[in-house]
Amino acid sequence: MSYPIPCHLPRVTIVGAGRVGSTLAQRIAEKNLADVVLLDIVEGMPQGLALDLLEARGIELHNRQIIGTNNYADTAGSEIVVITAGLPRKPGMSRDDLLRTNAKIVVEAAKGAIAHSPNAIFIIVTNPLDVMTYLAWQATGLPRDRIMGMAGVLDSARFETFIALELGVLPADVKAMVLGSHGDLMVPLSRYATVNGIPITELLDAATINRLIERTRNGGAEIVELMQTGGAFFAPASATSMMVESILLNQSRLLPIAAYLKGEYGLEDVVIGVPCRLGCSGIESILELNLSDFELKALHTSAQSVRKNIERSQEIFAAPS
Ligand code: NAI
Ligand code: 2OP
Repeated sequence: MSYPIPCHLPRVTIVGAGRVGSTLAQRIAEKNLADVVLLDIVEGMPQGLALDLLEARGIELHNRQIIGTNNYADTAGSEIVVITAGLPRKPGMSRDDLLRTNAKIVVEAAKGAIAHSPNAIFIIVTNPLDVMTYLAWQATGLPRDRIMGMAGVLDSARFETFIALELGVLPADVKAMVLGSHGDLMVPLSRYATVNGIPITELLDAATINRLIERTRNGGAEIVELMQTGGAFFAPASATSMMVESILLNQSRLLPIAAYLKGEYGLEDVVIGVPCRLGCSGIESILELNLSDFELKALHTSAQSVRKNIERSQEIFAAPS
């Protein structure tokens, strides 16, 4: 089903109208950032969600268009495309199964979206995040500044939350950065974490900081374990919305973003979380921090695990189906 498109306003397409995608649509519309196109493979579902969100506009006081569709033609001319389509890991499913299933979904979504929005900036959210971002970069042929993955903003927000809870301070006063891959091998940089400029190393002992780092590494799994029926989506949607906002409002925020590296940090041809300035043209620059030997080694270990999965994904696509 197609809908008439009004005169041009910034437009964000979200592929995958599940929990992360639909919550992100709500955040973007209610922050008045852009019109939203929600696309899903399930017929009727994105249309229903869009109508539900539209019916809240008068109460939430915005006038953004929200379109639900199963057709990529309706996403045409988007400034940003966010891909959240894919499965979360289910009981009995191996990492390889998840990689195989989501790789096909993400490649199909990336190709479908770029065909109608060749000038868009792409943000990938589907897991396993770093590999999916690499595959979407390959599938679209986009320059690396226009395609990236969301994970570091979420992982950093989790680290900040746990620090704030431990110290009993306002979460907004805590700033931290988590680099590396999205998973057990992420690299939280505790020496860069501060509370209004005061390093946390002056406020917490080493054992406590290590405990908070472990909780951050386990942040996604902790929520899955509690919920039993799926993973986190509120904070992931907030983190993605922060990236969308930085692009649409040209804020040039310095955020940890999964980016394709060409030699930065001594890493080549891999996607991994590093500090990037994010503005209206996408990734404006990658900041190379002067990491300690320990931190750099952790980043390389993290990259090695991503590279292994990238190789595995290339085998999947090379194999006859
Ligand atoms: P969900 O299951 O609620 O939603 C996924 C949606 O994708 C479903 O509505 C499904 O119908 C749709 N879909 C499946 N195949 C499709 C296709 N070929 N085309 C279009 N839509 C398709 O899952 P949820 O919780 O929204 O998570 C989505 C993904 O995001 C998962 O892979 C999850 O692991 C990942 N995730 C990543 C985070 C990160 O930090 N990068 C954080 C949270 C979730
Ligand atoms: C999360 O970190 C599972 O990637 C998802 O919540």
